[in-house]
Amino acid sequence: MIETTQKSKLIASKPVHDLIVSNQQIPTTPLKVSGVPGDKSISHRVLLVGAATPNPTKIHNLNQGSAVGLLIPALQTLGVQIDWDGCVTTVSPPTNNVWTSEPVRVNLGPSSAAARLLLGLLAGLGVPAVIDGNETLRSRPMNWVVNPLRELGIEIDYLETPGCLPVAIRGGCLRDGQVKLQVGSAQASSAILFAAFGARRKVNILHPVRSRDHTDRLLHYIGVGIEYIPEGIQISGGVPQALPEYYVPGDPSAAAFLAAAHVFQQRKTELILENICLNPTRIGFFEVLKECGIPVEYQDVCEAFGEPIGAIAIGKVPDRLQPFQINDPFRFHSMIDEIPLVAALATQIPGQSSIFGAKELVFKETNRLLSISSMLNAFGGQARVVGDALHITGGKALQAGVIPSFGDHRIAMTAVALASSLPGDSRILEGECYKVSFPEFPELMHTLGLNIHFSKE
Ligand code: S3P
Repeated sequence: MIETTQKSKLIASKPVHDLIVSNQQIPTTPLKVSGVPGDKSISHRVLLVGAATPNPTKIHNLNQGSAVGLLIPALQTLGVQIDWDGCVTTVSPPTNNVWTSEPVRVNLGPSSAAARLLLGLLAGLGVPAVIDGNETLRSRPMNWVVNPLRELGIEIDYLETPGCLPVAIRGGCLRDGQVKLQVGSAQASSAILFAAFGARRKVNILHPVRSRDHTDRLLHYIGVGIEYIPEGIQISGGVPQALPEYYVPGDPSAAAFLAAAHVFQQRKTELILENICLNPTRIGFFEVLKECGIPVEYQDVCEAFGEPIGAIAIGKVPDRLQPFQINDPFRFHSMIDEIPLVAALATQIPGQSSIFGAKELVFKETNRLLSISSMLNAFGGQARVVGDALHITGGKALQAGVIPSFGDHRIAMTAVALASSLPGDSRILEGECYKVSFPEFPELMHTLGLNIHFSKE
């Protein structure tokens, strides 16, 4: 049973500019795109690991979005040293490893990953702090993390609304133990992994589904004992090695917008996206493309820092695509941030496509079951929410228009990708929110012929 305070929330952030997506010249030649931004999830994790391991860590290709950006001043307030030379971010633990002993308040804006993971790490390290976020984040569930931390001995208080930020870490010591998570959220399991890592404790984390596993991989990479157990993961402490350098691979969730534009534009030639994280817990969107009949290949695959990376080549888009059904929790989590795109894809396919078991979308920046269907229907699509499922009947021509994004970056960028295939201009309301995760979005989408600019009003 998932508890929530935001069943019907449909506003993600304070108002920002609208985007105008203009009629474009679709390129007909093969395209190769390098420079997909660094993975947002990995960026959060590497900053935290760099802050809690000896010696400086030089991070290349850190995600430049505002979500990751807000973790940096929060860590600095806590005594962590972070420098940026315009290219490389260097993170060093606090001097003499003394984190602040006075309770400090940090605000992670809209970033749930930053807030939940930092809460876990500080709880494990025994650092007293108040963790807060913006209005949107204050309405998202924190009990997913607070409950298991309390079970393991940490004293945490809700300062305003029970279950939500702001929370205060009061004290207590994390002990060895086992917790059973109620949700598949990778942020929840990662928060407990960071807590056990900080406290050097042995903890079994049981979860309903395996979701993105970057924390497991990174901790294992620096020598922490990580083992998969039936229905979960075990972390068994151990002394971590320093992490002198880390190259963050390209974000498959960002790459997906380029791939989607290629598909929506029905391009008859190849698009290659280079240097992308190909972790199987993240590439569900590309697997759906295959299932619909679009050629997708992973090329030059190798391993770096415990993550598989390589290029994604998407071939000629066939004239007719097959509808799809998503009803497996692992598959769902492997594309959880791409569900807006997957639903947009379904509008292009004659017949009904469905996404089942999508309850966790209610707890994203917006209630994405509602924001996805409203955005698609504003284009003239046919999307319906039934319980925790989303059904899309595709094949009907869509029209450019004035499209709501609700200030949710993934909804806004999906609307832009969809608008890229339609004659006429579209106005994506509050579309500037793409900067949360993908500031390079307009520039990279321009490679696919899109002109995106801010509205003047
Ligand atoms: C993330 C996990 C996912 C994802 C989010 C980033 C992470 O959230 O939607 O964008 O970095 O662990 P949940 O853990 O809430 O599913």
